[in-house]
Amino acid sequence: MTAQYHVCDGVAVITLDNPPVNGLGHSTRIAVVEGMTRALDNSAVGAIVLTGSGKAFSGGADIREFGTPKALQEPSLHTVIEIIEASAKPVIAAIHAVAMGGGLELALGCHYRLAVKGTRIALPEVSLGLLPGAGGTQRLPRAIGLEAALNMIVSGKTVPAERLADTRLFDQLVDADVLDAAIRFARHIAHTAETHPKVRDLPVRHANAEAYLGFARATVAASSGPFPAPVQCVEAVAASLKPFDQGLRGERDRFMQLLGTSEARALRHAFLGERAASRIADVPAGTPVREVAKVAVIGAGMMGGGIGMNFLNAGIPVTVLETNADALERGVATIRRNYENSAKKGKLTQEAVEARMSLLSTTLSYRDIQDADLVIEAVFEDLSVKEIVFRTLDEVMKPGAILASNTSTLDLDRVASFTRRARDVVGLHFFSPANVMKLLEVVRGRETAPDVLATVMQLAKKIAKVAVVSGVCDGFIGNRMLEQYSRQAGFLLDEGALPEQVDRAIEKFGFAMGPFRMIDMAGNDIAWAIRKRRAVERPDFNYSKAGDLLCEMGRFGQKAGAGWYDYKAGDRKAYPSAVVDEMIVRHSKDLGIARRPISDEEIVERLVYALVNEGALILEEGIASKASDIDMVYLNGYGFPKAHGGPMLYADQVGILNVARSMRRYAKGYQGHAWQIACSLQQLADDGKGFND
Ligand code: 3HC
Repeated sequence: MTAQYHVCDGVAVITLDNPPVNGLGHSTRIAVVEGMTRALDNSAVGAIVLTGSGKAFSGGADIREFGTPKALQEPSLHTVIEIIEASAKPVIAAIHAVAMGGGLELALGCHYRLAVKGTRIALPEVSLGLLPGAGGTQRLPRAIGLEAALNMIVSGKTVPAERLADTRLFDQLVDADVLDAAIRFARHIAHTAETHPKVRDLPVRHANAEAYLGFARATVAASSGPFPAPVQCVEAVAASLKPFDQGLRGERDRFMQLLGTSEARALRHAFLGERAASRIADVPAGTPVREVAKVAVIGAGMMGGGIGMNFLNAGIPVTVLETNADALERGVATIRRNYENSAKKGKLTQEAVEARMSLLSTTLSYRDIQDADLVIEAVFEDLSVKEIVFRTLDEVMKPGAILASNTSTLDLDRVASFTRRARDVVGLHFFSPANVMKLLEVVRGRETAPDVLATVMQLAKKIAKVAVVSGVCDGFIGNRMLEQYSRQAGFLLDEGALPEQVDRAIEKFGFAMGPFRMIDMAGNDIAWAIRKRRAVERPDFNYSKAGDLLCEMGRFGQKAGAGWYDYKAGDRKAYPSAVVDEMIVRHSKDLGIARRPISDEEIVERLVYALVNEGALILEEGIASKASDIDMVYLNGYGFPKAHGGPMLYADQVGILNVARSMRRYAKGYQGHAWQIACSLQQLADDGKGFND
């Protein structure tokens, strides 16, 4: 049973019992209705308390059920709430820890609510592309006021219960043992009150509702991008000014509309995918973890400093090691400057800045880091440099220390072979700026020990990263796929597109930045060096030569004031460049290509499907263990549009058959050999299935 029932001295207690967070799935809804029926049928019961077991009152509707018939099967959450609200016996919600989404809506259907101080209260449905669909948009404005409710519902933000102490949401806030308090409250109320209040009967008041809603509509519409849910939230809350049942019907219709949108599916996928990424099939939950109380970082450059900040932010002491004092001093100054900037913006107090800096120490000697529990190398990306570092770490580090490399391209198994403890070696590929970007690729070597993996996955949560496990291959998950995307961007130039058109098309699709603006920021010289290396390693792997010609013109990107675009001093804006466009057109001519108009649709398809095809190969090879892991990499590290849920989910939404058909068409065109359709993708197309089915 996913809810328990017992009677204690005239009070029936229904306890939600559906770990991990008492999601209100079908079986739980049935169990609550059964509990209500037993309580109502029992003449010895005078009042009913509804509470939750474990770490939450309730986290809301069971997200895992969305998209399945169970989500809508009766008893729906509406029906459950109707039964509770209509009960002649008072129903008291005893709330602790978390009351979110449908969980809060369930509580709002009760006659009375008691909560433990500090309980996290939210209607976060908007983060899942939805609106509160079980009366939340109608009852919350009645309980806490129109403006406060609209803010909570549109932002989805969590507030502590105390902040709502003066509203009709709570009848009592307690320090602890809310169940005990609720049972006492229930006994008292059962004997003293004839009728019991319903939130639905409260009025929604506002001095100037029309003007306020006009303002809310305009600001929310301007800031919600491609997502329909925020505007729908405003409209649903606005309808709370109408009679309750009318507003409720409107809410239901809007909820059902949103539930079927591709944006809601994408956001749900992101929510579940982030959490699924931390589960590793052959590393079961409960695998013992190593204690990480001290961290060392080798290298005080931009990357090393950013990596260190993650641990300082989480209260973990960090020692940074460098080869010379100047580099150390510069590194520490950069870290301090970053914190001071956050303080200036009001994101950190000065005390917090000092507290974090006090956890930072520096050294020029490996002896000073030998007792660190985790050491992360962030030195120059060159195998011989890594070899020196890892041989030294092997000599000095205490037994059991985790030895991590921040390599983004090198073979982790080679790196591990420089030590006599390959089991302790793991890749921790942070993304720049490492203190900001959410993605962490955890690279699992051939011999990486399960407890090392379990430890770093747990640690990633502590430093607020989305960690995704990748096997060892060139570029791991993210950069390996990006290479195919960049190749297509180059081929498009050869055939007829210009950088600005390519960037504009993919930015319109939702990418934060197109490939040419991005590489101008990262440095064309870096990409050039990689291409030269790849020409030796994989001579079969060709690229457009336009990028090389650009570098031969000295146009290395923003830092040189010129790249694919022109840049002006003191201005980061990218201006289309006549000389570059001319070079591209000349290059096509040299290749004997008659340039043709290329549609934005073709640009988007070729860039995104190049990611999808490589993603499929990565899955086939077991480099990623599930399609959602690939999507989490692209959503959190590469600016893939959230509304599309990552390349693999996007392919599912387009239909794999359609994706394969387009690929076959492109395979007949210029550089068509780059489209070797992955067998698994073709198989899915043949079976009518998707990557995430
Ligand atoms: N349904 C099902 N499972 C849920 C869930 C939910 N509503 N909320 C969380 N979970 C699961 C997670 O998937 C995760 O599962 P796993 O351990 O198997 O990976 C587990 O609970 C723990 O989640 P977190 O790692 O996020 O745990 P935290 O302790 O950090 O946070 C939380 C707990 C604050 C409840 C957070 O999980 C959260 O914000 N959940 C989403 C809440 C939400 O959006 N609710 C609205 C649902 S939609 C709705 O109610 C519609 C209604 O209006 C009709």
